[in-house]
Formats: sequence, structure tokens, C-alpha cells
Amino acid sequence: MFNKRVKIKELLTWEPSNQEVVIMGWVRTFRNNQFIALNDGSTNQNIQVMADLGTLDEATLKRITTGASLKVTGSVIPSLGKGQKLEVKASVVEILGDSDAEKFPLQPKKHSLEFLREKAHLRFRTNTFGAIFRVRHALAFAVHKFFNEKGFVYMHTPIITASDAEGAGEMFKVTTLPFDNPPKNEDGSINFKEDFFGKATNLTVSGQLEGELAAMAFADIYTFGPTFRAENSNTARHLAEFWMIEPEMAFHDLEDNMNLAEEFIKYIIKYALDNNREDLEFLAQRLQEEEKSLPQEKRSEMGLLEKLDFVVNNQFERVTYTEAIEILRESNHNKKKKFQYIIDKWGVDLQSEHERYLVEKHFKKPVILTNYPKEIKAFYMRQNDDGKTVAAMDILAPGIGEIVGGSQREERLERLETRMKEMHIPTDELSWYLDTRRFGAVPHAGFGLGFERMVLFVTGMTNIRDVIAFPRTPKNAEF
Ligand code: 4AD
Ligand code: MG
Repeated sequence: MFNKRVKIKELLTWEPSNQEVVIMGWVRTFRNNQFIALNDGSTNQNIQVMADLGTLDEATLKRITTGASLKVTGSVIPSLGKGQKLEVKASVVEILGDSDAEKFPLQPKKHSLEFLREKAHLRFRTNTFGAIFRVRHALAFAVHKFFNEKGFVYMHTPIITASDAEGAGEMFKVTTLPFDNPPKNEDGSINFKEDFFGKATNLTVSGQLEGELAAMAFADIYTFGPTFRAENSNTARHLAEFWMIEPEMAFHDLEDNMNLAEEFIKYIIKYALDNNREDLEFLAQRLQEEEKSLPQEKRSEMGLLEKLDFVVNNQFERVTYTEAIEILRESNHNKKKKFQYIIDKWGVDLQSEHERYLVEKHFKKPVILTNYPKEIKAFYMRQNDDGKTVAAMDILAPGIGEIVGGSQREERLERLETRMKEMHIPTDELSWYLDTRRFGAVPHAGFGLGFERMVLFVTGMTNIRDVIAFPRTPKNAEF
């Protein structure tokens, strides 16, 4: 058996008393031909390994370079250096994999996030990305923990689908037809009957529609999977491939939906605060350093941990779209034309500058906006009695903007069909979806949380490309 190693995170909790230990990891630095800082990804803390020329031959010492991987056998001794209680005095150092110091791109110095994006295959080996991806993991685990504790069923909805769940037409096509000479119908259009699935298909933009089917049997379900949007938005908050969590609950109205979403967000943040303190403290420090170069008014009012505590311990503000439009229209920001898009009338869609004004300047806390005009929302949202708005809710987070989108669903068959026809959504192709309204329809609601936006919020990072391992964005599908 090869893997008899102790993880560094575990080792750091030991009392040093000359016990023998085996550790494995990658060299971060090697100083004075004697001190190896070894990291194995279990924590950002390196273990110091003492490798003396007395114990190691010169050829081996030469091969201990930044990036090289080692197996170290040694004894755990008290450390004389400050900041750490123990270190490992090596008796055997085995090089598992060499790393040419001239060619290894990560030097033991600070690299820019932009540079590291180009080296995304290696950036896990930096402190920043070590912390981010351990936090991302913890949040994903907390998602499952939350819903499991509430008795939700985790559904795996399809990645390949023939429908457009959001009706926004932002889909990647999936086909095996030849591009140069696809089979055609008589009218010149492509004959998808000859395609792999016998119809036109695409990557899913949301698992919601299938989620609703399952909710009509299990009552409480959630999905957590990749979703795809071919929107050409080259921003720090958009990905072409992102992960979304979509709970769907029978017997829930809009208020129940908001309550669940708020509880859920607080729960997963609290989980990270309780279980990833060290990584979050590192990220808080990083953010503070980064903001030093910004003018005072651009710096965050709260430190990262303070912000997360604040969100966990305070109620989200709940406001209607109509109230929000009033606030925005009356704001000095609007009057002085500081918005790129001036708010002049009811009915316009909110841009992220407006969302961020509401959360960061006006309310200074997360905001749940409800009851949007039906014209700017999806076909499945429940129509309110005013004939103008739908029972939608978006949750806006400081520094991010929209983090959750959801609604109570239109469960009344006739109303739904009429709205679909108005919006040119094919009712015949979605007949299976409409069946939920034909056979035992109930009031129900759900929402979608963009997982990467959540990770951005919790880690204090500012570009979504830095919180997913291998980002897919316009003109970029590297790795
Ligand atoms: O508001 P959206 O489009 O809502 C839905 O897809 C619904 N079917 C959800 C539901 O009710 N079940 O997307 C939900 C969330 C957004 O609030 C945002 O956080 C995230 O998904 N999101 C994106 N994240 C990264 N990149 C993109 N291109 C995103 N588009 C949406
Ligand atoms: Mg949305």
C-alpha cells in the first residue's frame, strides 16, 4: 500500500514527540538548501520539512524545486521557528515527480489573477485558489446537507433537452448532423428528424420544468447541476456554463418561497463560516490587501467575515418591483444621470447598476425584489390579479447583484396556455409540462441560485472566472 500518508491539516493538530510520519505533497519553496515548505492541498498552511545534506545526497537536494512532488518520511519535532508548533525532520525524501524550476510557471511570489487564469490548470496550487476551491466544496456540501435535512429529493434533470425552459432562446445546439451538408426539408430548413434524437435539441438552460414534474409527486425536490447559456455577456458575473441549484416545492406560495430561499442562503454561508474559517480568514486578508489600491469610496464598508456574519444575522429586505422603481427614480443617482440606463418609467428591466444601487447604497443589505412586470419575466410565473405583474422574486446581493431568480408558478392551465401563446412558446411541444396542470395541479413555487455567484459572494472574489475551475465564456473554452 502506497498511501500511508498523514494529511498536513491533520498533522498540524498533533503534539510533536518524535513520532514517525509519512507526508506527501508539492514543494512550495526550498530555502537555504534545508527548509522545504510542503503543501498537500488539505490546508493553505505548509508543513516545514528539514532536509539536511547530512541525511540527503546532493543529487536529491538539487531535485527539490518549487512544484516538485515529494514523499517524506521523518519524525515530528517541535519547531523553533515562530508561527508553527511542529515540523518534520526528514529521514527519507523521495522525489515522486520532478518540476523543472526554469519552466514551472508558478514562482514563489504574487501572481496576478489574470495571469493565473491563463494557467488555470496549475492555479489550484496557489493559496488563493486553494482557499477558493475548498470553500466552493464546502458550499456544495452544505447545499446537499440543507435540503437533505429538510427531506427534499435530489433530482438529476437532463443536460440535453428539446425545450427552452426560460423561453429566452439562449441555447447551445446539440446535433450530430454534418455542418457542411445537413439534410434539408423541402422548404430548405434543416431536417432534424434525421438528427441523433430525431428532433432539434440543445443544452439545458435550467432544470426547472423537469423539476416541476417531480415536485408534483415528491412535493419537495431540488436539482444541482450544470446549466448552459449562449448569451454573449462578457461580464465578471456571467458564464456560458454555470452550476445552478433549483429547489421546487409543491404547496408553496411566493412568501414560502422567499422564506426558504433566505433560510437556505444563510445556512450555507453559516456552514462555510463554521467549517472553513481559516480559508475565509485568508480570503478576507487577500481582499483587504487588494482594496488598498482602491480609492476609499470604492473599498468595501465591511471586511469579508463581517459581511458574511451580517448577512447571516439580518433579515433580507423585501420590496416590490414597483417600490424599487420609485426608489430608483427618486434617487439622486438617477436625477444626476449617473446610471447608464436612466429609470424613467415603470416596466423597464433593472440593470445590474440599479440592483447594486438598491443593495449597496440604499438598503445596504440583501434585497428580495418581488412582483415584476410580466413582460420582463418568464412564461411560467404566476399572474397576479392586477393583470400587470407576476409573482416573481429575485434576490440581490451586495457586490454581486442578482444571485437568485424564482417565482410562484402559474398552476392554472388556461392562464398558462394563454400566456404561452402570447409569448410564442409552443404548447404542443410542452404538453408533458402542461400535464402537471391537468392532473392534480397545486400551488407551487421554486427558485434558482447561481452557484458561482454564491461562491463569489462568500469568497469576496470579484470575477466569476476565478470561482469555477475551468470557466467557459465567450471565445474561451481552454482546458
Ligand atoms: O434567473 P434565472 O435565469 O432563473 C432560472 O433559470 C429559473 N429557471 C430558476 C428557477 O426558478 N428554478 O437564473 C437563476 C440564477 C440567477 O439568479 C443567477 O444567479 C444565475 O442563475 N445565473 C447565472 N450565473 C452565471 N452565469 C450566467 N450566465 C447566469 N445566468 C443566470
Ligand atoms: Mg433571472
